[in-house]
Amino acid sequence: MYEQASKLKKIMDEKHHREAPQGTLKVYCVTSGKGGVGKTNLSINLSLVLQELGKRVLLVDADLGLANVDVIAGLYPKYNISHILSREKTINEIILEGPMGIKILPGASGLYEMANLSIMELNFLIKAFNSISQDFDIVVIDTGAGISKHVLSFVRSSDEVIIVTTPEPSAITDAYAVIKLIYKYSQKIHVIINRVDNFRDAEFTVQKISNASRKFLHTDIDYLGYVLEDRSVFKSNMEQIPFYTRFPESLASKCIANLGRKLLYGEQKPVQYNYTFESWVKKLMAFLRN
Ligand SMILES: Nc1ncnc2c1ncn2[C@@H]1O[C@H](COP(=O)(O)OP(=O)(O)OP(=O)(O)O)[C@@H](O)[C@H]1O
Ligand SMILES: [Mg+2]
Repeated sequence: MYEQASKLKKIMDEKHHREAPQGTLKVYCVTSGKGGVGKTNLSINLSLVLQELGKRVLLVDADLGLANVDVIAGLYPKYNISHILSREKTINEIILEGPMGIKILPGASGLYEMANLSIMELNFLIKAFNSISQDFDIVVIDTGAGISKHVLSFVRSSDEVIIVTTPEPSAITDAYAVIKLIYKYSQKIHVIINRVDNFRDAEFTVQKISNASRKFLHTDIDYLGYVLEDRSVFKSNMEQIPFYTRFPESLASKCIANLGRKLLYGEQKPVQYNYTFESWVKKLMAFLRN
């Protein structure tokens, strides 16, 4: 399966080095230990935020589960990578247009067959990816849960990994188990705490993960941020429209917008808060005097 990861990486590198020297392609893999923590919802909506911020995003659906990208985005793909290899379709014909102009590559079984490609087939696939190389800046890969060989392949083929967890103890333990398995292969591990009631819950949760990672693995994780528990996520799933487009003013949308900005631009410059009454009163006095 490592072979499969190398092939995916080779395709991405070819695309990056040969065809788009002036741009950089960044590949993010979204994964988790426990299932059902919100990977697919966050992958889609984060992709929308990144697209809105001016990046051209390709969302790769590498989840073989049921509730995957196309279901949540209300798309119905008929073809996948295997149809490129069988010469029935071109890559442009299998890529779907999602909301806000993001593009979606339906994975299905095609992606998993890459481990068994001949050199000729691989070259053909690289050529197919090269033909779209000027079209994207960012690839977001939505994986299934758990630490299967498949998921590990996608993690290893990516530049950075985004681990999603909820504050539930079992989800935290499973997130740490994933970090333990991947930290040697990943340049950067981001963590998102999903479905929290407030930011303190998220910070409490992430502390546990980062303390364990530092103590036992001597590795630092990047706390990307949190997404609040929000009924809009369920409602938008029922309508098969991503929450960022359906409920742009919802708490979940505001949270995901923060995560996207942080991913692209790093830590936002903190606003100068007053912190104490004294400083607030002094500031107010200064303004009143002027
Ligand atoms: N912030 C949130 N607030 C409320 N509900 C949420 C939130 N995030 C996700 N959910 C709900 O959690 C459920 C699982 O979400 P999703 O399918 O995105 O998880 P997943 O990690 O991709 O699952 P799987 O492991 O099966 O691929 C959905 O019913 C969704 O509505
Ligand atoms: Mg999913």
